[in-house]
Amino acid sequence: MTEHAAPDPFADFDGLWIAMLPDLQPITPPDGDPAPYFRKAFHLDAPPVKAEIRFCGLGYGELRVNGRKVSDDVLQPPFTRYDARFLYSTYDVTDLLAEGDNVVGAIVGNGMYNVIQKNPWNFDTAPWRSLPKMALSARIELADGRVVRFRSDTSFRVARGPILWHVLHEGEYYDARLEREGWDRPGFDDRDFGPVFLCRPPGGVPMPMDMEPCRVVRRLRAKSLREVRPGVWLYDFGENIAGWPALRVRGPAGTAVTLRCTEKLGADGDLDGAPVHDFVEAKERFQADTYLLSGRGDETWEPRFVYHGFQYVRLEGFPGTPDLDSVAACEVHTDLPDRGHFACSDPLAEQIHAAVRLATLGNWHGMPTDCPHREKNGWTGDAALSAEQALLNFDPSRAYRKWLRDMTDCQRPDGRMPGIVPTGGWGFEWGNGPAWDDALVLIPWYLYLYEGDRAILETMVEPIRRYLDSVARQTEDGIIDFGLGDWCPPEGGFATYKCPVRVSDTAIHATQVRTLSRILRVLGQGDAARRYETRADAVGAAFRKAFTDEATGWVEGDCQTSYACALYHGLLAGETARKAFDRLVGQVERFDRHIDCGILGAKYILRVLTDWGRPDLAWAMVTHTTFPGWGHWIAQGATTLWETWDGEASRNHHMFSDVGAWFHSGLAGIRPDPENPGFRHTIFRPRPDAGPDQVLSRHRSPQGEVYCGFRRDPADGDGGGGDGDRGRWIVEAGVPEGCTGTLYLPDGFADRTTLVLNGAIRLA
Ligand code: BGC
Repeated sequence: MTEHAAPDPFADFDGLWIAMLPDLQPITPPDGDPAPYFRKAFHLDAPPVKAEIRFCGLGYGELRVNGRKVSDDVLQPPFTRYDARFLYSTYDVTDLLAEGDNVVGAIVGNGMYNVIQKNPWNFDTAPWRSLPKMALSARIELADGRVVRFRSDTSFRVARGPILWHVLHEGEYYDARLEREGWDRPGFDDRDFGPVFLCRPPGGVPMPMDMEPCRVVRRLRAKSLREVRPGVWLYDFGENIAGWPALRVRGPAGTAVTLRCTEKLGADGDLDGAPVHDFVEAKERFQADTYLLSGRGDETWEPRFVYHGFQYVRLEGFPGTPDLDSVAACEVHTDLPDRGHFACSDPLAEQIHAAVRLATLGNWHGMPTDCPHREKNGWTGDAALSAEQALLNFDPSRAYRKWLRDMTDCQRPDGRMPGIVPTGGWGFEWGNGPAWDDALVLIPWYLYLYEGDRAILETMVEPIRRYLDSVARQTEDGIIDFGLGDWCPPEGGFATYKCPVRVSDTAIHATQVRTLSRILRVLGQGDAARRYETRADAVGAAFRKAFTDEATGWVEGDCQTSYACALYHGLLAGETARKAFDRLVGQVERFDRHIDCGILGAKYILRVLTDWGRPDLAWAMVTHTTFPGWGHWIAQGATTLWETWDGEASRNHHMFSDVGAWFHSGLAGIRPDPENPGFRHTIFRPRPDAGPDQVLSRHRSPQGEVYCGFRRDPADGDGGGGDGDRGRWIVEAGVPEGCTGTLYLPDGFADRTTLVLNGAIRLA
């Protein structure tokens, strides 16, 4: 072995993979798909002083020791391309073991490893698909200095348990009469358990779990309960969350109680799952969990291997009359640390920001998903668009690094990217394209900007280069014309027109190539950087030639997104740019200051309006309460962001969430400085000329807290409510010790602003 040999990942995770022999019967609910319960009894003849178990159960696994779950993580491990890589957890179980008899147990579920239903993204035929399986290895130090080691093997035993049916996109079916009391504790008679078989490993390389796991982060009590029909009860939890319902019940054995979850009610006041249940054949099983009572007295139950997107729970089959505490809602998602705060004198802006946050969290389950119900897919475009606000509001850096690995695991040898990550092969022919693939380029770059993470650039530069070269091979006269473009513009009401894909995606490609050149420069690869700089210039020139009229500022498409896109991507200069901006303002006024964009334009327009001097228009657009707009969603009771402006599809999507970044960066003005990333130097561009009387944004950067805000000066006598161009203001900003900042005020504000600058901030 040479000194520098790469460590063998299999040496750290050497458990044998075991599974339960499949029953030779068709998989039909309720009893065709039982989750295996594994157990092994062992004896320690001295007290344990340090004990660790490395464990992976695919798709999801729950490890138990002596009757207790070893951790508060759930839905573990996160979805990866299992035949390329899987994540295992290391649990410290010292306190759960004792001298004498011990038992280790594991319950394993299907998750995305064993998708048993027909699936539009072909996960049912994914190359990795197989029966649920597990592997573990244990290392226990005893007080007398000896070390006991064991791993999963044929000494384990397995049985079906009460989980008879569990399908991630549908629900769980649990018969509590089949519970085996004490199965995971010593002294249990396991003659009922059968042998395990040694199965094939998943194929991927093991890696230690290195991101925050999913947890139950909140338990919500319902805001209301009503009987919609005799015996059918409806709980409203007041917020649209991802997670599952929890049941408390008492009644006769075998009583079947069904909990059905949705995010929307129909006109009849009952559940309406239709907008999101398209992809499940058996509609009655969509987001429906069933519990059969054991009859042993007070019973509580939560599903284990599924999660749903919901605000409402319909309860059927409940013995007796339920009350507000019979059903709770558990909010479940990747437990991302919180690090952003936005406050505003306008409650609507705060509500929109809260919706941004809830939609982001509800869509983090080991990866950024599109929605927590219909698809649960890692759509790349959605994640690219929400990344800046996610980095400002939360700390998703470890989670992103994991997902970027998934991206490179799914990248094809020629560089192309699929529209969903992970994928079993679907998404290369449709659903990808520059705007979606942007996640591969932008997320590493944002991790550098917001975190100062140079290492991620080193890791990602080659995949990015390979990807961009593959796109370059697919262009004609420098123009790109594939992808989904400005997805989900308003339908009905205002807009009838979508910005052409060739406009948006050629512009995006230009920025991607320029970003690669910046990355190369950071990495000290000057020659390569210049080559891509030249290529970016060429794409820009092709864009101008094909889509713009220099004399008039006209951009093909002649819509809000076309103008905002050309300006956001810096493709116009001088007078042409000014004229294009005037055209953009004209478009905004023409639509009565409403947004007329899909997901791409929705990011560009707020930023362009703000940076070109009309933050008031951006503010009006954000806070309008009529169709289409964020404010319109909130006016209809939304607590999350929706997929479409008309609300006819999913009501928990985060692809329109860049407005959350605009609150922090556009309005309050906190921006990272590419020359000093990770907020070692912060650029502050607060916009008291936007509209609200008071705004404050805080962000816990890797260096410490940066904040910025403004408020009307009470000494002003203006009393507020006037437009931002008049009156005196107080602007306050701060940077952590050892860091610096530069504050820019809007034109005309220097004389009428009192500055409170905490830390080394200079006024530009
Ligand atoms: C998803 C989107 C996704 C899109 C791309 C939809 O079904 O929910 O969020 O980006 O497809 O086509």
